[in-house]
Amino acid sequence: MAKLGILVAVAVFLETVSAVSLGVVNTEGGMVEGESIPLGPFRHIDVFRGIPFADNPGRFQKPQRHPGWEGVLKATEYKPRCLQLNTLMVDTSGSEDCLYLNIWVPHNSSVSKDLAVMIWIFGGGFQIGGSMGEHFLEDYLYDGHEIADRGDVIVVTLGYRVGTLGFLSTGDSDLPGNYGLWDQQAAIAWVNRNIRSFGGDPETITLFGESAGGASVSMHTLTPYNKGLFKRAVSQSGVALAPWAITKDPRRFAEEIALKVNCPTNDSMAACLKMADPVKLTLAGSINITSSPDNPIVNNLVLCPVVDGDFLPDEPSKLFHNAAEIDYIAGANNMDGHIFTSLDVPSINFNVFDTPAEDVKRLLASYTKEGGEAALTEAYSLYTQNWGSNPSQETIKKTIVDIGTDYLFLVPTQAALKLHTANATTGRTYSYVFSQPSRLSGVTFPSWMGADHADDVSYVFGKPFTTIIGYVQSHRDVSRYMMNYWTNFAKTGDPNKGESVPTTWPEFPSPGHKYLEINSDMDEDYVRQELRLPFVNFWTVVLPKLSEANFEQKASANASVPEETL
Ligand SMILES: *[C@@H]1O[C@H](CO)[C@@H](O)[C@H](O)[C@H]1NC(C)=O
Ligand SMILES: *[C@@H]1O[C@H](CO)[C@@H](O)[C@H](O)[C@H]1NC(C)=O
Ligand SMILES: *[C@@H]1O[C@H](CO)[C@@H](O)[C@H](O)[C@H]1NC(C)=O
Ligand SMILES: *[C@@H]1O[C@H](CO)[C@@H](O)[C@H](O)[C@H]1NC(C)=O
Repeated sequence: MAKLGILVAVAVFLETVSAVSLGVVNTEGGMVEGESIPLGPFRHIDVFRGIPFADNPGRFQKPQRHPGWEGVLKATEYKPRCLQLNTLMVDTSGSEDCLYLNIWVPHNSSVSKDLAVMIWIFGGGFQIGGSMGEHFLEDYLYDGHEIADRGDVIVVTLGYRVGTLGFLSTGDSDLPGNYGLWDQQAAIAWVNRNIRSFGGDPETITLFGESAGGASVSMHTLTPYNKGLFKRAVSQSGVALAPWAITKDPRRFAEEIALKVNCPTNDSMAACLKMADPVKLTLAGSINITSSPDNPIVNNLVLCPVVDGDFLPDEPSKLFHNAAEIDYIAGANNMDGHIFTSLDVPSINFNVFDTPAEDVKRLLASYTKEGGEAALTEAYSLYTQNWGSNPSQETIKKTIVDIGTDYLFLVPTQAALKLHTANATTGRTYSYVFSQPSRLSGVTFPSWMGADHADDVSYVFGKPFTTIIGYVQSHRDVSRYMMNYWTNFAKTGDPNKGESVPTTWPEFPSPGHKYLEINSDMDEDYVRQELRLPFVNFWTVVLPKLSEANFEQKASANASVPEETL
């Protein structure tokens, strides 16, 4: 009898334990109910998929508040991603009705409250992607479960418009652009207003994102529209200063799209584009992926944010005062440029094909075009300084990747970190380089391959713990390190404070401009300083000067009347 009593007590106890869930949550739009998943005897997670944070968006308009709903909204399925091109760019998928977010809330034996909140902004070149990411069966890349559980934080992932519907701009007030950024901003504001009902602390919100998502995070720290809405930010492989993050001449591409959808390019263009078929508009935004060292792929990435005088009131480099109180982590992968330079110079991936040294010169000439001949000479001697008289193929191929990594990711990130720290009042600044070798290194990629673009994402989301196949112990180590640094930072502003980390990550400010190299082997020797200083110096100091000189020289050569006679 006593035994039975204990069993009943245990059963009742387990029942109570299994009931640790937020249940139905009241939000500004109405009630929502997610799914409660037991993780252990004293651990549960509530998962909400597909909560609307804004109304179904009007074409080329800023998002509006959701009108709300009656009854309890079942938030148990991901909503379709925003309408976008498929990978081959010949078809589309997704829906225009796409402004939804997902939330993961971990609990111990009682329902959580005042948890730190991390909001993920996905990447995909402002062209593709969704709040849940790619998936294999039910395993979604941006599933927040693992990092939420390990870090004891709430994770939110949001959807935003991409491609033509997210970023087409006529360069004026007709169609100002940046719709995708406004969507993200609406989601951030929604989280700030509603997360308390989910057990979150609206005073402790961190944005994190990768690639176009990292650049978006950076722009959210720079716009005046987010004052007080979040406290911290992490930009992984993307900042607002990246050469692909802002389109300088959006009008030109808007006209190309207009022609493809049979719209005139005169004053009726905007009105016509607004009425065009959304699938046709999306298809018309496909980019030319035929690239070469003379016309690198980055030049074709043109559907992206613009300096609209509104969300971005000025060039990003002039807006860092708005980020003075934001704690900021930014970094790049040590071979971030590989994915793009592989398109421009495909031979770098194949031992059987030689990559001529000439390709290094051609790629540099494209990237330094504004600086003219002098810039190319300077750049070439810098990147080949350690080549010796007879560089190996591996040396040449790696140099191509370095150039792409520096120009597209690493150097703009360093520039952003320097402006951030220079303008910071209370905000802290941390810098990293992620160098865990690609899992395809020596498989489909050369054996010298380091961390490719986007390799960091699966580690931040704890995939080595949830997807057993394809990962080994060293992957689980680096994944745990990153999740601990990231969630410690989200909770305290200091990546070292909280869960254990392999070594202390010092702050960035000078002297030294310290940074952390993140890798499964890391220890105190992975704290370094002055990341690629001569290269950062070339792109951020030398090249702008040479470009200015080149511009002035051309201008005076073009002037019909010599200056001195004026
Ligand atoms: C849950 O329990 C763990 C381990 O005891 C603790 O570190 C954490 O702070 C707890 N979280 C909450 C939300 O109470
Ligand atoms: C623009 O061009 C179209 C087609 O050529 C024409 O029908 C329309 O009247 C023009 N609109 C304006 C405002 O000029
Ligand atoms: C794509 O770009 C390449 C190289 O600039 C060019 O030769 C080709 O014609 C372009 N293709 C299209 C469809 O625009
Ligand atoms: C602060 O940022 C602005 C751009 O927003 C930049 O021009 C300025 O140099 C920075 N301030 C300092 C002290 O570096």
